[in-house]
Amino acid sequence: MIDRDRLLIIDFGSQVTQLIARKLREAGVYCEILPHHTIDAARLQSLSPRAVILSGGPDSVTDDDPPSPPFALYQMGIPVLGICYGQQVMMNQLGGQVVGGRSREFGAANLNRHPAGAGSQLLDGLFGNGAEQVWMSHGDHVARLAPGFVVLAESEGAPMAAVADLERQLYGVQFHPEVHHTPGGSRLLANFARLAGFRCDWTMSAFLDDAIARIRDQIGTKSVICGLSGGVDSAVTAALMQRAAPGQTTCVFVDHGLLRAGEAEEVVTLFRNHFQMPLRHVDASTTFLAALEGVVEPEAKRKSIGALFIDSFKREAEAIGGADFLAQGTLYPDVIESVSVSGAAAVTIKSHHNVGGLPETLGVELVEPLRELFKDEVRALGRELGLPASFVDRHPFPGPGLAIRCPGEVTREKLDILQQCDAIFIDRIRSAGLYDRIWQAFAALLPVRSVGVMGDQRTYEYAIVLRAVTSMDGMTADFFRFDDEFLADTARRIVNEVRGVNRVLYDITSKPPGTIEWE
Ligand code: XMP
Repeated sequence: MIDRDRLLIIDFGSQVTQLIARKLREAGVYCEILPHHTIDAARLQSLSPRAVILSGGPDSVTDDDPPSPPFALYQMGIPVLGICYGQQVMMNQLGGQVVGGRSREFGAANLNRHPAGAGSQLLDGLFGNGAEQVWMSHGDHVARLAPGFVVLAESEGAPMAAVADLERQLYGVQFHPEVHHTPGGSRLLANFARLAGFRCDWTMSAFLDDAIARIRDQIGTKSVICGLSGGVDSAVTAALMQRAAPGQTTCVFVDHGLLRAGEAEEVVTLFRNHFQMPLRHVDASTTFLAALEGVVEPEAKRKSIGALFIDSFKREAEAIGGADFLAQGTLYPDVIESVSVSGAAAVTIKSHHNVGGLPETLGVELVEPLRELFKDEVRALGRELGLPASFVDRHPFPGPGLAIRCPGEVTREKLDILQQCDAIFIDRIRSAGLYDRIWQAFAALLPVRSVGVMGDQRTYEYAIVLRAVTSMDGMTADFFRFDDEFLADTARRIVNEVRGVNRVLYDITSKPPGTIEWE
């Protein structure tokens, strides 16, 4: 068990619970999220948190037997903050009243402070310009306060938008301080942590220590296999496993031949030479390309690659004599894009997570040390682990690789063209000093040929589309605004240097309605 002052977040199933943790980590506070059904009074006592946050959630306290924290929580003498459903459940348990329906509020709202709010540390530094913008998303609202509570702030649709029992240090907010659209939200969460006595000095290096302790706890002296994909997440996972359990981890790098130019060599050099990790590198490109012959449907491509990947990985795992654990670089956005709040499968837009079948076929247990983190946090962790910045700061790259940047059938010829165009585009972006301002940039090769003229000759060649987006987490995105000259020079270089391309397009679609990748 990790010996640290902890802020416990009890999760009632909100889509944005992890953002509470993220904001707290940014404020230097160590926190843990646990699902509400795992917390009874005894567990709560044994965890002995310094403070608790109750998250939002999809349930209504007006239903029979709503999900609730143990009543003992309010008798522990520690600060508690309820957010949205968390506020409602607190009011419900402590003798207030929550009503459903009529005044639903979704979106931005203005918060106005009550006199009692002026003296509350929770709202310190907010209301600089009078009202404070907050993000609401609720059907039910508090209609009567529990005894001992006062209103700190109200909005039009939620007269009890922020409430407190100042003596017992119990707080509730109807709005979501954890989301981007509540600009003062980070401040409010940090205020809550400070009033609970946190020193707010937690850092990524402390996360690293905790992660190492957790990994050691989980795997003991057993052996671990770790899949490298060429991407940042798997690389950080491997480096972390090496730090936590040197001598227990073997990396397997199944090179499906769908990587960017020079990528496979880079991974091998980094892990074999720099980290001196046991690494099994298998060039399986011929097998993968043969399986992709004639496959055009995006999900069919993912399935084919996913299944082959599992086969190849399994074979390699057997060749090294098997392992007890599989370390995987699953990140938080992967977790929420793949499952709904109840844990059931959500609507599948794309089956992003093509290694999902591995644990079952290998009969191993999963180690997922990055599961709570967002991409930028993984990068910070990678730096902490000594991965070179040029590697850690690379743009994300999808598991099925260039296959999903090649709409239609994938062939070696197309991959070769695509790699060259991509390398030129990235080189131009790096030279212009734009790489770190862009979330992801790449080329995709369209399955059309168009007519052009080069010299005095008619050409009939492929069209390349360039895509560059800004994003916080890959879940929404906007296209990057290059200047005309940059685009013109890039197009010129591509057409001049790459045989087989005579037309270059720039994709100006945001996500939604587009997705970042073309397939
Ligand atoms: P989309 O295209 O869904 O992409 O907007 C969001 C992020 O996910 C990556 N992506 C994938 N990653 N396997 C992966 O490991 C996949 O099948 C896959 N499809 C998309 C994409 O590159 C972007 O970062």
